[in-house]
Amino acid sequence: MNRNLNDIKIFVSSVLPDIGIDMLRREGFNVICWNNDTPIPPDLLLENARQCNALLTTLTGKIDADFLNACSHLDMISQFGVGYDNINITEATKLGIPVGNTPGVLTDATADIAFGLMIAASRKMFFMHKKIEKGEWKHFTPKSNLGVELKHKTLGVFGLGRIGIEMAKRCKGAYGMNIIYHNRRQDATAEKLLGAKYVSFDELLAQADVLSVHSVLSDETRGIFSKAAFNKMKPTAIFINTSRGGLHNEEDLTEALQTGKIWGAGLDVTNPEPMLKNNPLLNMENVAVLPHIGSATAEARNAMATLAAENIIAFYKNGRIPNIVNGEAMERKIL
Ligand code: DGY
Repeated sequence: MNRNLNDIKIFVSSVLPDIGIDMLRREGFNVICWNNDTPIPPDLLLENARQCNALLTTLTGKIDADFLNACSHLDMISQFGVGYDNINITEATKLGIPVGNTPGVLTDATADIAFGLMIAASRKMFFMHKKIEKGEWKHFTPKSNLGVELKHKTLGVFGLGRIGIEMAKRCKGAYGMNIIYHNRRQDATAEKLLGAKYVSFDELLAQADVLSVHSVLSDETRGIFSKAAFNKMKPTAIFINTSRGGLHNEEDLTEALQTGKIWGAGLDVTNPEPMLKNNPLLNMENVAVLPHIGSATAEARNAMATLAAENIIAFYKNGRIPNIVNGEAMERKIL
């Protein structure tokens, strides 16, 4: 590709770590950034993308079929994030727009949040913290505030990919937990590494003491954790979701917790996001909720910005995207 990089306009639709923006500017790209910490309104995203050659976006940018057809001139899209369910990949592929993402670099950060939420829910930590704030810590109470222990319990992983494997390693190392998992495909390497056992979705629901969700959000997985699923879980089970809120039905989850179908929950992702402050889940003893901070470490976010910039630089300099989501679109691209 023999284009002068100074002629290429990149629109960055969120405020991102400087490291990635600096990399792009050092290469000579003309980088235009949305400089407000609130998500860019859809009409402004469209207006800016129309005038640019490539888009660097995040999970808050809704890149649906209408958007893509209105911006079919885009050379490529670089997603700051491992998940890309905000982008209609089928349509992007049809239009020959390659999409890159940032896998790998946020694996530990996200697994730490899943692991932390599991412990926080099992010991009612967030609720107990609120009690102190409200002046309700009066004295030592031997029979109340009781949580549950995790040692030798069964962790069920829904989606044993990079993050699921790291969560399983933490649970096995810290608590000797027994690992079961459900995936689209069986993973012999991960099974060997973790001594993990592949089970059907129903077996996962029935056997897990802690069920941790690490799957992508797709048509197949949207709302899969519904009333029917929670009804099949143990009444002592803890449900953890650090993937996407769209995988669970939040009303069904709330009801399952209220009626004792399951015991507790730890969420870093909610449905919808952001969660409203009067959400009943926030006042439940056995529930811990965080505001989608799985990848929020300085290390992970800098690495994500670096990878997102590298995807753009490699595309324009070498005609390839190191972390490509839709290789087919790249093959069709006339460089
Ligand atoms: C991702 O990368 O998909 C996270 O959810 C946001 O960092």
